[in-house]
Amino acid sequence: MAYSNIGNAIGAFERKLLTHAPFDDYLKGDEKALTGGQKVGLNLFITKGCTTCHNGMGVGGHMYQKRGLVKEWPTKDLGRFENTKNEADTYFFKVPSLCNITETGPYLHDGSVKSLEEMVSKMGEYQIGKTLNDEEVASVVEFLGSLKGRIDEEFIKVPEIPADGPDTPKGDS
Ligand code: HEC
Repeated sequence: MAYSNIGNAIGAFERKLLTHAPFDDYLKGDEKALTGGQKVGLNLFITKGCTTCHNGMGVGGHMYQKRGLVKEWPTKDLGRFENTKNEADTYFFKVPSLCNITETGPYLHDGSVKSLEEMVSKMGEYQIGKTLNDEEVASVVEFLGSLKGRIDEEFIKVPEIPADGPDTPKGDS
């Protein structure tokens, strides 16, 4: 098999892994795709400033940003500096995409935050310098639920493999 074909096959597979979420329908103009509560959360997500970093396709994933931008993060993980040795990269991390975020805890690069509520509240405190009250946190979490995509069942079903025959190679033992 040509090497480029391997690349094409992996690419075709990975493109199918992009899940389609209610928020995608909403962006395409289907106003009913989000619940009233999710719309309130979306509004907070925008007006509080989360979209400064978590934006565009995938709602994040496009830039590096300082963790602890407005308030120093309690742990001293140097982030991107470890790789680049550039002072300006100290405490910088990739801004993650928030697609399927309800399914992908624990959070942050080190998995140090267990719940999404705590995560949203911490982002408010350290990244935008705003204390979100419990109601606001719950609202934003509700909005983040609209980023949960549907997985094509056909795509994840167990493949049907033909029965073994006399010529079937045996696995390494
Ligand atoms: C200044 C940029 C910036 C802003 C503003 C910001 N974030 Fe983040 N966010 C980050 C970075 C960087 C990380 C990853 C840090 C890490 O991995 O340690 C992150 C991580 C997260 C995560 C965890 C993602 C994961 O997969 O672990 C969530 C959820 C999140 N942010 C939500 C929010 C919300 C909600 C807001 C608004 C209240 C917000 N962020 C504002 C930069 C930002």
